Amino acid sequence: MTVIEDSAQSRSGTVPPRYACGETFVPKSRYVDPEFLRLELDRLFTQVWQPACREEELPAPGSFYEYVIGRQSIMVVRQKDRSVKAFYNACTHRGMKVVRGSGCAAGGDLRCQFHGWRFALDGRSSFVPSRDEFLDRPRDQWSLRPVAVGSWGGWIFVSMADNPPDLLEWLDPLPSALEPFRLHDMRFRWRKRTPLNANYKTVIDAFIEGYHTPGTHPQTLRAAQGPRPPAEPAAPQEFVYAPYTPTLRYRNHSRFIYTARPDSGDRDAARKAQAARPEVFANSMQYNYLEVGSLVTERDYRAARRLATMEPSDIPPFVLYHQMCEELALAEGVDFPKMTMEQYFAGNGDWHVFPTLVLLVEKSCVLGYRVLPDAENPNRCVFEMFSLEHFAPGEVPETSWLEVERWQDHDGWGELPTQDLRNIDAIHAGMHSRGFDGLWLNTAQEMSIRNAHAIADRFLFGVDDGQGAAGDG
Ligand code: FES
Ligand SMILES: [Fe+2]
Repeated sequence: MTVIEDSAQSRSGTVPPRYACGETFVPKSRYVDPEFLRLELDRLFTQVWQPACREEELPAPGSFYEYVIGRQSIMVVRQKDRSVKAFYNACTHRGMKVVRGSGCAAGGDLRCQFHGWRFALDGRSSFVPSRDEFLDRPRDQWSLRPVAVGSWGGWIFVSMADNPPDLLEWLDPLPSALEPFRLHDMRFRWRKRTPLNANYKTVIDAFIEGYHTPGTHPQTLRAAQGPRPPAEPAAPQEFVYAPYTPTLRYRNHSRFIYTARPDSGDRDAARKAQAARPEVFANSMQYNYLEVGSLVTERDYRAARRLATMEPSDIPPFVLYHQMCEELALAEGVDFPKMTMEQYFAGNGDWHVFPTLVLLVEKSCVLGYRVLPDAENPNRCVFEMFSLEHFAPGEVPETSWLEVERWQDHDGWGELPTQDLRNIDAIHAGMHSRGFDGLWLNTAQEMSIRNAHAIADRFLFGVDDGQGAAGDG
């Protein structure tokens, strides 16, 4: 495979000037240049672990799911012993895709529709019509070519690397930080998919920093005005209610959290005074249920409505809220995750699981986004948004991917996601401007974006500049 060999040779340990980032600067070429996308697909997506699907999307032995990344199609297949294997989705005869989409292998084997070759669930060739008319070939070359597979948090990860790192080490610190939340026991409440006119990183970036919140989602500054406050643009003085969302960098991933500025003095006082009022905190939680459809489940929403009627006390509203959510969940038979507040804050927040996945983690649920690059066009991507929740046994809803060709054709995104989606075209279109050179990032609240480029440079150019390193986090 010459492309890979060539790229390995040219991975000289320096980033070409047109792609080189500064301390807080990222050149726009990394978003709009077709050559950069080609490098990402050749050198990065062939090497990293990436989530292909959820465990529950492979319900039975024989269930398969086709994960497409660039020009590569990989099938993950549930085995008879319920383990999972992954293969390149290319028939070893003339290369045709063996499976398309998702489904269950009829009769327990995978069948190529071109000439009728069959493969067992473990990839071994099980039937070749007129086999005696073929020349000899080593046994494994008749079989589907394997791809590394692993699982964490309920996702099935695949890696095309020959020697991928241990999946849990690659994901560090997510497995330990999120262990108490038991993501693997969550199931979809809803899931949606649509193409967008932007680079996949333009979209990812819009979901891994909280700095845009007052600008894009001004209603979130106005919880004192009710569960569905007005959304006209915020005046400068209103930014005092903006949450502070510092980014934490890890070796392969990043996170932003919601917190008070360390030296804010009175700066956060108004915001803190507001948040101490039960009904104001309850309004924000109600908003999330009503206009995000995740972060707060229907059960949590009932807790928030009860909280809204309570008088201020010594116990902070968010503590009361968490207590009531847990009580309601347990009363309704949910195996609710048990954790201390310390454990909650160690896992709560907005994680970028580099490169394609974003997870906003709460106890009851996870709001997630996955964004996949187009195979050819740096100005296109596929966007997915979903909510995973802890359900009582027997209460897991039947869901499937809601797919729309234009995001505007679906009116159920909710006010807050709609505001994000409305930005996307304009962000990416603006990047093409002759008057724009690149991103100029906030040193506290947007370093998740800079970190992702540092991680990418390790794969793209063999450069490890010390960013994307454990320690900051
Ligand atoms: S290409 Fe699959 S059977 Fe011929
Ligand atoms: Fe947003």
